[in-house]
Amino acid sequence: MAARLSDPVRLGPVTLKNRTIRAAAFEGMAPGHEVSDELLAYHRAVAEGGVGMTTVAYAAVEQSGLAFAHQLWLRKEAVPGLRKLTDAVHAAGAKACIQLGHCGNMAKPGIAGGRALAPSAKFNLYGPVMPRAMTMDDISRVTRSFGEAVRVAKDAGFDAVEVHAGHGYLISQFLSPHTNRRTDEYGGPLERRMRFMREVMREVRQAAAGAIAVVVKTNLRDGFEGGNQLEEGVAIAKALEEEGADALVLTGGFVSRAPMFIMRGPMPMKEMSRRMTPWWMRTFVGAFGEWLVPEVKYADHYFLDDAREVRKAVKLPLVYVGGVTSLASAKTVLGEGFEAIALARALIREPGFVNRVLAEEAKDVGTPGLCDHCNVCAARIYTTSMACHHWPGVTA
Ligand SMILES: Cc1cc2nc3c(=O)[nH]c(=O)nc-3n(C[C@H](O)[C@H](O)[C@H](O)COP(=O)(O)O)c2cc1C
Repeated sequence: MAARLSDPVRLGPVTLKNRTIRAAAFEGMAPGHEVSDELLAYHRAVAEGGVGMTTVAYAAVEQSGLAFAHQLWLRKEAVPGLRKLTDAVHAAGAKACIQLGHCGNMAKPGIAGGRALAPSAKFNLYGPVMPRAMTMDDISRVTRSFGEAVRVAKDAGFDAVEVHAGHGYLISQFLSPHTNRRTDEYGGPLERRMRFMREVMREVRQAAAGAIAVVVKTNLRDGFEGGNQLEEGVAIAKALEEEGADALVLTGGFVSRAPMFIMRGPMPMKEMSRRMTPWWMRTFVGAFGEWLVPEVKYADHYFLDDAREVRKAVKLPLVYVGGVTSLASAKTVLGEGFEAIALARALIREPGFVNRVLAEEAKDVGTPGLCDHCNVCAARIYTTSMACHHWPGVTA
């Protein structure tokens, strides 16, 4: 019999009271790279809204991995704020996870403290950034930074970390033949492109030491010709199982090449460009944004067909993400044997979404989802407050 959303689920050393997770979705509420009252209040609201675990998004493991001035940076100075946040989440009955990221070829020099790092020096139009190829020293330092970030997360009271290995950020840039043109042992065939990810996993697991869960967000496919396809996505998932991940969150897409493959639907580029600096970015993105970031058609639970192939290939717990906005789509996903469901836009639209859907599950009646995947929430990433424009007082 299929699991119910309300059933507890175990991911390595951590047990969630139900099968829902707030997906990492960049909040922008970390001015000075630290937790703000708004960030704490948002995660408390999601926890009070019934979620089993909430994931604080996109915390950089070191300065070179920062893409925004209002993005978390996992260093010891951030611990007191993060500790208050995890205490608030725990008091509301949920578990707390933090996403460990490094943006690689998306880094902004003024914020990241120098030129962007990437597997290879290849122009990223979406930055726009010309990164420099990482040296062996860079590779071993960044690998160690992932481990250090886990220690910081443990000190701050997190129950889990989520290694971001998807969406075209640094680990994903190593995995993808589109961004990895290296000729050393970190480039070439997939096994060599996976080397950086495997080294990061070893460092992360050693630092976690079984006390907190290690979740990995990984691509099913990059979403464009010339990137990784499903066959590679399945092989990467198997490698992550070998490396001892406690669970995988299955996603897809590549910010610098196929951004809407991640979320589907349109990207309101005019709304996004409005807050961009400098002025020439605002003008360029306002004029050409819709051409640069074409719509990818949305459908409910749009990653399910691909995710099913990983389900067949591995045994570890799998977290489904992508296009779940109602009880009906959640039931379809759980019916296919996924252990948990991560939700981004449904929870941005409605922080109390989980309690509402659990009540519907108890009565066995479902209502249509409220989120219409218009993606204005994603277009607002240059603001310092993630929000849905259907909320009172929020403008697109
Ligand atoms: C506003 C916004 C910000 C996001 N930021 C991140 C992020 O920081 N890290 C990440 O892994 N995914 C990010 N995502 C992607 C989501 O985690 C998720 O994979 C995607 O939205 C599909 O799930 P959904 O259909 O439930 O929204 C973001 C999505 C949105 C809407």
